[in-house]
Amino acid sequence: MQYMTTAEIREKYLAYFQEKGCKLVPSSSLIPDDPSLLLTSAGMVQFKPYFLQQKQLEAPYIGTTSVQKCVRTNDIDIIGTTGRHLSFFEMLGNFSFGEYFKEEMCAWAYDFSVNVLGLPPERLYFTVFEDDDETIEIWKNLGVPDDHISRLGEDDNFWRAGPTGPCGPCSEIYFDQGPDFGCGSPDCAPGCDCDRFLEFWNCVFTQYDGQEDGTLAPLPKKNIDTGMGLERMAAIMQGVQSNYETDVLRSLVAVGERLSGRTYGEDAEVDLALRIIADHSRSVTFMIADGILPGNEGRGYVLRRLLRRAIMKAQLIGIEGHFLNEYVDEIVRLMGDVYPEIVENRELERGLIMAEEDRFGATLRQGQAYLEEALGKLAGDTLSGEEAFTLHDTYGFPVEVTQEIAEGRGVKVDMEGFERSMAAQRERARAAGAKDAEAAWSTYGGVYADLLRELGPTAFIGYDATAAETRVVALVRDGERVDGLAAGETGEALLAATPFYAEMGGEVGDTGLMENGAGRVAVLDTRAPEAGLFVHAVRVDEGALAVGDTVVARVDANRRAAIERNHTATHILHAALRRVLGDHVKQAGSYVGPDRLRFDFTHFEACTAEQLAEVEREANDHIMAAVPTTIYETSLEEARAAGITGLFGEKYGEVVRVVEAGEASRELCGGCHVGNTAEIGFLKITSESSVGANVRRIEAVTSFGALAYVNKVEAELKETAAILRVPPFDVSERVAADQKVLKDFRTKAKRAKEMVGGDVFNELLAQVQMAPAGYPVIIARTEVRDGGQLRNLWDVLKSRMGAPGAIVVAGVKDGKPLLLAAGTDEAVAAGFDAGALIKAMGPAVQGGGGGKPTMAQAGGKNAEGIDDALEIARNMVL
Ligand code: SER
Repeated sequence: MQYMTTAEIREKYLAYFQEKGCKLVPSSSLIPDDPSLLLTSAGMVQFKPYFLQQKQLEAPYIGTTSVQKCVRTNDIDIIGTTGRHLSFFEMLGNFSFGEYFKEEMCAWAYDFSVNVLGLPPERLYFTVFEDDDETIEIWKNLGVPDDHISRLGEDDNFWRAGPTGPCGPCSEIYFDQGPDFGCGSPDCAPGCDCDRFLEFWNCVFTQYDGQEDGTLAPLPKKNIDTGMGLERMAAIMQGVQSNYETDVLRSLVAVGERLSGRTYGEDAEVDLALRIIADHSRSVTFMIADGILPGNEGRGYVLRRLLRRAIMKAQLIGIEGHFLNEYVDEIVRLMGDVYPEIVENRELERGLIMAEEDRFGATLRQGQAYLEEALGKLAGDTLSGEEAFTLHDTYGFPVEVTQEIAEGRGVKVDMEGFERSMAAQRERARAAGAKDAEAAWSTYGGVYADLLRELGPTAFIGYDATAAETRVVALVRDGERVDGLAAGETGEALLAATPFYAEMGGEVGDTGLMENGAGRVAVLDTRAPEAGLFVHAVRVDEGALAVGDTVVARVDANRRAAIERNHTATHILHAALRRVLGDHVKQAGSYVGPDRLRFDFTHFEACTAEQLAEVEREANDHIMAAVPTTIYETSLEEARAAGITGLFGEKYGEVVRVVEAGEASRELCGGCHVGNTAEIGFLKITSESSVGANVRRIEAVTSFGALAYVNKVEAELKETAAILRVPPFDVSERVAADQKVLKDFRTKAKRAKEMVGGDVFNELLAQVQMAPAGYPVIIARTEVRDGGQLRNLWDVLKSRMGAPGAIVVAGVKDGKPLLLAAGTDEAVAAGFDAGALIKAMGPAVQGGGGGKPTMAQAGGKNAEGIDDALEIARNMVL
């Protein structure tokens, strides 16, 4: 056999099947367009709609061929212990949707293996599904001897992608690596767990659609789905014992050798760690490049688990700190030409990996110490669920990692206990106020699915028009189809065609009116509970609405225009963020309403004030350049090739809509936009905050929203200026000066108190406050012997206050309240009025009195009212 590189095998395979008439299709994302799957785990995943005949392949192609990036973590604990299991691998495949079938497929598989790859026929073995005589005949006719063909049951030779969907019996091709690789058992044959017979090609005869109830419904046509593990084939073609010794993976093992200073092949534990990191680093790189962020659930959790497992294994062989990006650099070098997304997202990969290394690296040692201690003092053979939970919650150990370490010591983890602790934590979080915001809508799932089947997708005509004459095609009330809605009733209306945009891609749904002669119906919201089905939430205000009615549908055009301004502004903000912060910025969510916009994006730290100012300036530059927007449709392939920004993890059809606001902002988007950026007026960022690890949020306003925001800020400033009696732009200076006086004052008071102890003057001095009008004032209760004493108090305080101030004090003598207000001329000039204060306070103590603006006193009958009286003074002065 002739040595072949991984790249050569890939090229030869794809070329061979293209020559046979298959269309070359690029690998799909690791995020499948299929809710039944967490991650793309086989080449056939992207072709499910073709197997189900929901989509057709155009002539002249007879099938498709691809190299698909795949992630499988169901046997993660075996990875590294064998030479053939990987969490990330490339699958070479070819697929037929009713065109070619077994006969052709088997012939080509044989021909490719023997004549293109040059595999010796005597080393090839074939398995078929137990009762599939037809395939046995086909292999025999190709010259395969009887003793190289065997039958296996459902576990081995019936293939399913998941619990439901396209599936079928399969035939697998094995390569005999020789007895040296084997277990030596006399029963050793293809299907044995040992390494002798290496399965490298699975040919599935996809004939069935697995149903929810477990039955198999025949598919309309007979299909082919084949998958060849590229790494396994590389191991065969390179004459090496394991996937980890093939060209690509061996280079990654070498990265680990360099970083750890250890040599592969000398120590089993070290080899295991080197293999695991080499494997996991590829999964991590490709998952991030496809828009998966480390998290606590779903695919985010799978990613986090792989990342953390790699970090732990690295530490075991002495690799510390930031290291995984060294692997990523090598992966990009080795695979970037075939998978450009890993190159394009290099900054995001770098940032997310470093953030995760920091976050986990910091607690890893402590967690390990905790686990060691727990294992050390363990009485039985089971680690408690609470301890596993503490490791998860406090130290970030994925529970599977805890299990793996524990199992290494012969200890189990009480998983039920762990789940109980997790459930209790979720309950606490829920009780702490998390609400399900999406309660009201979409509860009538069945109705909408039926309507979509019956009516097909709604024609949306609202990009160009905000009003149109159209027809009511269905009405729903409380989840039931109805023929009409009477005045005062609410329900949902479906139109033959609609100018109302349904909430999608962050953009809120349109509101407005429908009119039918005498009837007036308010449209309160528009949503698409099933993809493509536009449903209007309506309230009949006058007349009635019936199925079949012709109506004039009118979108609230002012509101829509405001939404359009905010939507285009969101794109412009996105472009500005990428320019200022870097290419790792990716949209992670958005809200586009008429009043404001919100944009969530990947970034690893808070933005500085300077960065935000620059982003805002960039965005406004773009807006004021008055760039016309152009919107057009193109193929997904061309859009990708042109480097147009697509949304993270979003699914697009073959035809995509591009919204372009100048060269700098080109995005795939289905939303509503302005015709020219100048319509946006200007954009003002109102806040920047964090929403979880690695994701930041910017809120902003544009056009009239921005004007309203600026007006509000200005009104606030003017009001403050009026209180301080300074021009608006002197406010900060004045407040700073006042703060300084106040601070000096407090320091003096403190010092005096320290010197003299707690005498009455110092107690009062400690209570000084700054009146907004700009003078220090003490408003407080004090001890009194007589009215003269209160006047003396003022004399002393006046000199001790050290600044032109004022006091309002009250106390009780012989059970009767006494009040005194006094101020310096400066305080009076700034608005202090002792006479007015005493007059206002009098009633609270059932008394009265008076005096001048600089000095006034009162007595009263009700000592209980003193606090109220002082409160009145505070309200007037502060
Ligand atoms: N879907 C099959 C597999 O993954 C063949 O492509 O093995």
